[in-house]
Amino acid sequence: MTQHLAAPAAPASGTDTGWWRDAVIYQVYPRSFADGNGDGMGDLEGIRNRLPYLRDLGVDAVWLSPFYASPQADAGYDVADYRAIDPMFGSLLDADAVIREAHDLGLRIIVDLVPNHSSDQHEWFQRALREGPGSPLRERYHFRPGKGVNGELPPNDWESIFGGPAWTRVEVTDGNGGTSQPEAGGEWYLHLFAPEQPDFNWEHPAVRDEFRSILRFWLDMGVDGFRVDVAHGLIKAQGLPDLGKHDQLKLLGNDVMPFFDQDGVHEVYRSWRKVLAEYGDDRVLVAEAWTPTVQRTANYVRPDEMHQAFNFQYLGTYWDAAELRKVIDESLAAMRPVGAPTTWVLSNHDVTRHATRFANPAGLGTQLRQAGDRELGLRRARAATLLMLALPGSAYIYQGEELGLPDVTDLPDEVRQDPSFFRAAGQDGFRDGCRVPIPWTAEGSSYGFGSGGSWLPQPDSWGALSVDAQTGDPGSTLELYRSALAVRREHPGLGAGDAVEWVDAPEGVLAFRRDGFLCTANTTGETVRIPVPGRTLLANDTVMIVDDMAEVPADTTVWWAV
Ligand code: NOJ
Repeated sequence: MTQHLAAPAAPASGTDTGWWRDAVIYQVYPRSFADGNGDGMGDLEGIRNRLPYLRDLGVDAVWLSPFYASPQADAGYDVADYRAIDPMFGSLLDADAVIREAHDLGLRIIVDLVPNHSSDQHEWFQRALREGPGSPLRERYHFRPGKGVNGELPPNDWESIFGGPAWTRVEVTDGNGGTSQPEAGGEWYLHLFAPEQPDFNWEHPAVRDEFRSILRFWLDMGVDGFRVDVAHGLIKAQGLPDLGKHDQLKLLGNDVMPFFDQDGVHEVYRSWRKVLAEYGDDRVLVAEAWTPTVQRTANYVRPDEMHQAFNFQYLGTYWDAAELRKVIDESLAAMRPVGAPTTWVLSNHDVTRHATRFANPAGLGTQLRQAGDRELGLRRARAATLLMLALPGSAYIYQGEELGLPDVTDLPDEVRQDPSFFRAAGQDGFRDGCRVPIPWTAEGSSYGFGSGGSWLPQPDSWGALSVDAQTGDPGSTLELYRSALAVRREHPGLGAGDAVEWVDAPEGVLAFRRDGFLCTANTTGETVRIPVPGRTLLANDTVMIVDDMAEVPADTTVWWAV
């Protein structure tokens, strides 16, 4: 295996030089991006073949969701071997080729790291099970005796994010009839997600050593950074105290929980930052950290910790001028004291795509099952993207949003794979809708995703949304993204800095100035008239100029050179 240098440094933008500060980062969800070997499942070869598409789209970096050896109980977020590629995605040689060729194209590669939990098939966990209570391997996870007379009750009242208790009782299969029964000693283990995802005990030095070693393994492979899964979950409150509250899912993100956002996590990231520093100052850590407030999120990106954190408060905000302005101000203000760039994100593999969220009324959250008004949703989504790409900081794009893909809200139950769908008796877990493989060609097997169908069925209408169908059509969403990213490259001031200057605007319209540039976003359902502020650089709809007044259509964002 050859070692590579990281991708060439991007030109400095604004006053800061770190490439990530204003980077546009494209999330590839490997199983649904492109299938190179025709087995219906996306893979590294497919990604490799499509790297030129990403370069031409104009993104700076690619974040790859997990491709590690995994039984796929949670689509790869259950890792059995952190240093191996799952055969369904390819091999380490394929990963090496993706990293090398991406760098040759000027793209950086960020990989997903899943430190909160492993797969139950991970060697440590399997040994812990085999060796039984008292095994030192059990100390690397959270094994506890149950409560109740016979240990038949879970050790505490925590609930799994995917539904049901966060504890599973260890069972042994008797050799004769094959029936399972609680093991002698009756221990339970903790899993904040699926039972196939046991939580590591991060108080154990072997766990800490192992992850520093895993970081080095991938840094040696040449990756430019890590997106850290459940970064807020590693440390649990001493003694694993009961929460004493039911319906814990509703509290998530709003309340301090004994298993999330504990102060002890920061020591872990300080030690990781030192590991990255051994490789220069160009490799980055990105936190997936759900915290009660943006101020708490800022703790993860203090100068000696991570470089970026996802802005989930922004993702959760509806297409509404007042709400957007509030979250933009709060986000920028929260990051400013720690000197980290703010990030912006509208879609990812865990939430309903923004074209479908905005097709539905406000207040329904980020897990929707109804298609809503598709045309309205797409118009708003395009406008929302232009707004996001005009904000200072780094922006994340989720594969397929550049095609204006909606969520697939009518997937039949039999094809669903999201573990929470099963754990919540079909009442939850609709993440499959944003994970349907993306269309590349107007015709052909799985619309060019691969030659062997696709692991989730694509809607019949998706040929018209394919990359081929949209390429060259100036009104298409794909060309809008390409233009926006090209303009952003030509005007580095667009993503630079840490502030926006708000300008007076009619009700429902956002207007802010940035370094020779003005962005106006009309979030209302009506055309608004504003004095022409300058030359139109880009808009998601046609802006008419009549007597020095610009007529900005409903749900339209305009970038002006001023
Ligand atoms: C967050 C990931 O984005 C999600 O897909 C996964 O199910 C959980 N973490 C558990 O790893």
